[in-house]
Amino acid sequence: MEERKRHIAILGSTGSIGTQALDAVAQHRDLFEIELLTANNNASLLIEQAIRFKPNNVVICNPDKYAEVAEALKPHYIKVFAGMESVCDLMSCESLDMVLAAMVGFSGLKPVVAALKAGKAVALANKETLVAAGALVMPLAQEYGAPVIPVDSEHSAIFQCLQGEYSRPVKLILTGSGGPFLNTPSAEMDSITAAAALKHPRWNMGAKVTVDSSTLMNKGLEFIEARWLFDMAPENIEVVIHPESIIHSMVRFEDGCVMAQLSNPDMRLPIQYALTYPLRRSLDCKPLDFAELGSLHFQKPDLERFPCLGIAQSLLAKGGNACCAMNAANEAAVAAFLQGKIRFTDIPNIISDTVEKCQFIEKPDFEAIYCTNFEAFRIAEEIIGNKYAR
Ligand SMILES: NC(=O)c1ccc[n+]([C@@H]2O[C@H](COP(=O)([O-])OP(=O)(O)OC[C@H]3O[C@@H](n4cnc5c(N)ncnc54)[C@H](OP(=O)(O)O)[C@@H]3O)[C@@H](O)[C@H]2O)c1
Repeated sequence: MEERKRHIAILGSTGSIGTQALDAVAQHRDLFEIELLTANNNASLLIEQAIRFKPNNVVICNPDKYAEVAEALKPHYIKVFAGMESVCDLMSCESLDMVLAAMVGFSGLKPVVAALKAGKAVALANKETLVAAGALVMPLAQEYGAPVIPVDSEHSAIFQCLQGEYSRPVKLILTGSGGPFLNTPSAEMDSITAAAALKHPRWNMGAKVTVDSSTLMNKGLEFIEARWLFDMAPENIEVVIHPESIIHSMVRFEDGCVMAQLSNPDMRLPIQYALTYPLRRSLDCKPLDFAELGSLHFQKPDLERFPCLGIAQSLLAKGGNACCAMNAANEAAVAAFLQGKIRFTDIPNIISDTVEKCQFIEKPDFEAIYCTNFEAFRIAEEIIGNKYAR
């Protein structure tokens, strides 16, 4: 049992993962002290959270919102900063034990790098960090002795299956619900709206990851994330569609034994496990009732209707900065889709067109990764404007 409370930073505290993490903290006040909360734009929720959880520091990334947050938190003696540089600077705070990286998109990379360089444990929800720069980030974690603990439910499941195991698995089996369009006929895919894509059948998440789930790009991003987190060759990672989302992922060992982690779909479980690891703590999660479940189903992903998964797999094989370019193009395409500028089925085409135009760098360093992200986003926006915008 630990004697000292764990001092944590929640990056992206106003998002879906961030708010659920704060729920876990509220349930276990004896375990955690909040050091830092950050948001991008949502000043009012950040202020509310800061008054409730009393962190030492708060960062609002959008500098236009700084005055509002600083004014509101002045009477509470909470230090307020603006901008991403401030988030990165605060990662080396001596009292900080763990950083929950729950920002969305490429914005998560810089603070994760700063946290790892400061030797902090990182609970990683922000999968885009490893998609864009897994080959650089994981060695950094090793070099600085900073553990990376997965928060994504699939990777948390694998991580949990591996606890206490002495043998490396021969296969990682990632499950996915298949999203809201699992059974949508090909002919109807063109007319899928943003509102329909935002209605996920199993999980309640932020807008970007929900759209990624509907295109199966989320599974592609997770495939890449698994490759780096568990140092597993891509040919030993499998994806299976499991619409009930009860098995969150599996590992197979060389003797044929398959270990799986099961629970009702509830992100609070992997979030809390990452924060309390290696301990488990109580959670008011609906217990599984197997008789009520009756049966579980599995099928292969349909790469024709959902090309994004195949694109991610082939760009992982290509290596270099290709996955970084793909990630940026996907962010641009998802934003355009949410604004009603492009069709659902344009997303994979925009990604492929962008990656083809973006300069390939075989061995990128961090600087090259930041440039690739910027360049690929610009190319994708240009392609959207010239070729796909409606
Ligand atoms: N939600 C889930 O169930 C789930 C499951 C597995 C993995 N993940 C991963 O976890 C990450 C967060 O997902 P989410 O669903 O929680 O996203 P979300 O609800 O959209 O929240 C994102 C958070 O990041 C902040 N943010 C957005 N853009 C930013 C920027 N440019 N700079 C700094 N902060 C920024 C947001 O601040 P504002 O609120 O101020 O905009 C918010 O606090 C994603 O990488 C996602 O793939 C999520």
